[in-house]
Amino acid sequence: MPFTALCPADAIGENTSKQFELSGIKLFVVNERGVFYAYRNRCPHLGIELQWQEDKFLDFDGEMIQCATHGALFLMHNGECVAGPCRGKSLESISCTVIDQQVSVDLEELDLSQHP
Ligand code: FES
Repeated sequence: MPFTALCPADAIGENTSKQFELSGIKLFVVNERGVFYAYRNRCPHLGIELQWQEDKFLDFDGEMIQCATHGALFLMHNGECVAGPCRGKSLESISCTVIDQQVSVDLEELDLSQHP
């Protein structure tokens, strides 16, 4: 499956996040100091969405991904949970890159058997 463009790269500022739905898959993208990472929008604790409000996935300092339900903290660059009830588990990573100034993702490696 080819990469699919989500939005212009400048639409997701440094240390902010944005959510999307693509082919029925809910995902979000974070920008950690200019590098983009995409994850499936599903907390490994209860399998529910993580955002606090629309497009808000980061903690107060914009340094980590934080689940709104029980506050689990995840590293932005690899999705590993480092604190909270699912510590040691990880968000499902999605291939993400910038092509022609567009943040783009490839869902091919996602395990769709666990959809949604
Ligand atoms: S559902 Fe995310 S920490 Fe509990």
